[in-house]
Amino acid sequence: MTMGSETTRYRVRGGNPLEGTVFVQGAKNAALKMIAASLLAAEGRTVLRNVPVIEDVRRAVELAQAVGALVEFHEAERILVVDASRLTSPVLPAEIARRFRASVLFVPALLHRLGEAVIEGVGGCNLGSRNLDFHYRGFARLGAIVHEGEGQIHIEAKQLRGAHLYLDTPSHTGTENLIMAASMAPGTTVIDNTALEPEVLDVIAFLTKMGARISGGGTGFVTVEGVSELTAVEHTVMPDRIDASVFAMAAAITGGELSLVGASLEHFGVVRWKLEQMGVEFATHGAVLQVRQEHPLRPINVITSPYPGFATDLQSPIMALSCLADGTSYIRETIFDGRYTLVGELSKMGAKVEVDSNAVIVHGPATLKGAEVIAHDLRTGIALILAGLAADGETVVSPGYPIDRGHAAIAARLTALGAQITAETDD
Ligand code: EPU
Repeated sequence: MTMGSETTRYRVRGGNPLEGTVFVQGAKNAALKMIAASLLAAEGRTVLRNVPVIEDVRRAVELAQAVGALVEFHEAERILVVDASRLTSPVLPAEIARRFRASVLFVPALLHRLGEAVIEGVGGCNLGSRNLDFHYRGFARLGAIVHEGEGQIHIEAKQLRGAHLYLDTPSHTGTENLIMAASMAPGTTVIDNTALEPEVLDVIAFLTKMGARISGGGTGFVTVEGVSELTAVEHTVMPDRIDASVFAMAAAITGGELSLVGASLEHFGVVRWKLEQMGVEFATHGAVLQVRQEHPLRPINVITSPYPGFATDLQSPIMALSCLADGTSYIRETIFDGRYTLVGELSKMGAKVEVDSNAVIVHGPATLKGAEVIAHDLRTGIALILAGLAADGETVVSPGYPIDRGHAAIAARLTALGAQITAETDD
């Protein structure tokens, strides 16, 4: 792992309104699944374009290499080339898998190609109880045998078979993972209560190009007819709607004006309406999305829910933004139970924010002051950077690694817009 180059902290000096043009990265939560899916192709080379240069993608590349795939990540071009014609090991090693929860996405390809998969540990952001039971139950219903051993999970399947599956809640990764597993399982698989996120549709589009037969994407009810082989193809990863929304909020929190290139306003959905209610203006000029804060910010009520609801990944960023709004905002998380860690950090910066029984109440407007704060996970981290951009004085956000998991070159992209921010590494 490239641990030595990890960002240790971000140092932000607030007060500058952001202005200029920013290039939105490719979607993390689509690219990771496509890297795993490319291992289903036993011949040829997969070419993925617009791949975000982020730590989670580097971890996915390392996992693909650990099982024998030849992978080149041309970071300057944001192009990934995968040759999975010879997979040599079913083991997803602990040093990567332990802290990279998306490792489970490699199971379908390993089952189809090698008949078994071993996950030596399951990691990810610290988001409270994040189970993977839908994944394992789904693999079992498709005919796999799942053994939970000491510090590892071993999954075996000579041959998966189509089956009727359901998800208790519309799990984003669960949907994609079970579609991948079903794509080469002989027979018909029906999955009830599937996720509707745009990234799921992009993954389905990618698998369909590879030769998979999938219908019902975007309806909550997906049918997959298993095929005997999938082929390597070329695909451009969709824009990252979370990255785009964070930059929209960066314009809003600093009272600036940004042109977002590579963003799709359509994917903003309810986030657009919420930001407009707060006083943020959106305008499309051809392919460029212009965002500016037109009025003093107004308070907001947000409840996170699966797409098309308000994305849990933007709950922390909008909490930071609402600190500056003139009035009381209510923010309620319903997807992950560990996602209010931002509250304590914003308090250190002078925000008037409290956790009630089932919501966070933000009493605005606050004058934020720079402080030393902790990025408990990726989305808390980026929210603290937003808060730092609006605060008086210097904010130090550490560790930097969680932010680098999901946002490409965040310091460089913000600096280009007039922000004062530096990334520091200790070695
Ligand atoms: N859940 C289960 N069992 C499962 C799967 C999920 O109980 O087997 C529960 C989870 O504990 C959680 C809820 O269902 O309470 C939703 O989880 P989901 O499976 O939808 O989340 P995920 O697929 O693991 C993806 C993104 C997350 C994003 C969520 C929600 C990837 C790699 N991750 O996670 O992204 O927050 O969907 O949209 O696609 C991030 O980017 O910061 C991030 C955490």
